[in-house]
Amino acid sequence: METISTVAGLRACVRAWKREGARVGVVPTMGALHAGHLSLVQAARARMDRVITTVFVNPIQFDNADDLATYPRTLAEDGRLLAQAGVDVLYAPTAAEMYPPGFATRITVAGVSAGLCGGVRPGHFDGVATVVCKLFMQTLADCAFFGEKDFQQVQVIRRMVADLDLPVEIVACPTRREADGLALSSRNRRLVPAARQAAAVLPRVLAACASDIAAGGDVAAALLGARDRLAAAGFDPVEYVELRAAADLQPLAILPPGTPARLLAAAWLGDVRLIDNMPVPPQGG
Ligand code: PAF
Repeated sequence: METISTVAGLRACVRAWKREGARVGVVPTMGALHAGHLSLVQAARARMDRVITTVFVNPIQFDNADDLATYPRTLAEDGRLLAQAGVDVLYAPTAAEMYPPGFATRITVAGVSAGLCGGVRPGHFDGVATVVCKLFMQTLADCAFFGEKDFQQVQVIRRMVADLDLPVEIVACPTRREADGLALSSRNRRLVPAARQAAAVLPRVLAACASDIAAGGDVAAALLGARDRLAAAGFDPVEYVELRAAADLQPLAILPPGTPARLLAAAWLGDVRLIDNMPVPPQGG
């Protein structure tokens, strides 16, 4: 595996691959890699001739300076895992390479980025869309692989790619979970033992709420019940528990027949923010 940190170096490498007719996949990450990321690498390996994984803690998508400062950075270990997983290139640019002096562009994706994480993290999805667009331009990837744990992020990226005619296919891969159901996340390593135990309540509550709604239960009552159960388990604050249309994230007050829906939540345990989401099977389905 080669490690590259400049746009020029990456372009030269990818151009050589493309001259040979290789199809290139990219797995964008912020590092602190876990089995969820490695499953994206595996999916990319299975479909593509060449795989790039990017590791870049993107400062412009953090709305909170402490969150940026404490975000885990484990580049040496990430490199070891990626080499083992058969990645061809680890692309790890510096912040100055990504955002040189004078950098002044932001991409805003309206609609899908409103509310949910976009509602509580101002500017977050502008930062995500901007860096992901740059990573697509820098890697010239044919396919990009993202985890469904960040469901709203995937919809924002899909919208951006469609709107800007970016020549890249977005592949969304299922959320990977611990044995007790907790979605894998780089932030989980910051949970103290008691919080780690409580964290498994989040997927359980979401699964129960999703089946209640799928069985025809009142949506508002089910969402409120889920919030109460999370608060009782020590989540504080519970930022949101919402039902949305899976395709465009429009808020849903009822479960419309035949429309794939998604239940999404974000809540804090101590100083760690957790997010998760689950599909809600269509009524009668
Ligand atoms: O999901 C992430 O890790 C980040 O938001 C991404 C897509 C790598 C952009 O910085």
